[in-house]
Amino acid sequence: MSRGLFITFEGIDGCGKSTQLNMLKDYLENKGCELLLIREPGGTDIGEKIREVLLSKKSMGMCSITELLLFEAARAQITTEKIKPALAEGKVVICDRFFDSTFAYQGYARGLGSDMVKSLNEIATEGLSPDMTFFLDITVDEALKRRTGRGDAEDRMEAQGLSFQEKVREGYIEASDREDRIIRIDASGTPDEIFAEIKRRVDEKL
Ligand code: TYD
Repeated sequence: MSRGLFITFEGIDGCGKSTQLNMLKDYLENKGCELLLIREPGGTDIGEKIREVLLSKKSMGMCSITELLLFEAARAQITTEKIKPALAEGKVVICDRFFDSTFAYQGYARGLGSDMVKSLNEIATEGLSPDMTFFLDITVDEALKRRTGRGDAEDRMEAQGLSFQEKVREGYIEASDREDRIIRIDASGTPDEIFAEIKRRVDEKL
């Protein structure tokens, strides 16, 4: 491989990304792949500080443009510091969220529009795009049940409410209809059923 493989996972809050990310990590490591698993926002010392500002409920007064720029600032850092070097070393990089989150959450659900998001994404990533993106699609009701079951404290983004999550889902569906790179997976099944589909798609790429 001249350049590694860049795989991202997307979906509304509570869609089951973490389970699938970890199943894919174990699967690829067992195959002998060198791998980097990271998350957005965060994944670097600077990015984790930005994450804290973004997700804290103390930041309820944050305006949409500040939110957009902070997500992009964290992205610029993780792209330069972690993702590009790992890909250059031929590693598989699995990222929990990347720029499609910004299209769905800020561009679509917040209504900032895709043009501004696209320009900023390009600046933050210097044109880097994932090779494949899994959009784990489940209904907002189902996601809420899973989140409630986990008992995690709600963060600032989750506190935007269910109609916001509905819009985020619509944004993802629109993006996956438009882009072949984004593979929409029915995430209402069991973890093993969902993973079987992800594994099949990744094997095709390796
Ligand atoms: P996180 O706890 O990582 O959520 P999850 O486990 O669902 O991935 O929080 C990240 C939150 O930030 C999540 O609500 C999605 C949101 N987000 C955006 O709004 N825009 C973005 O560009 C990114 C990367 C995340």
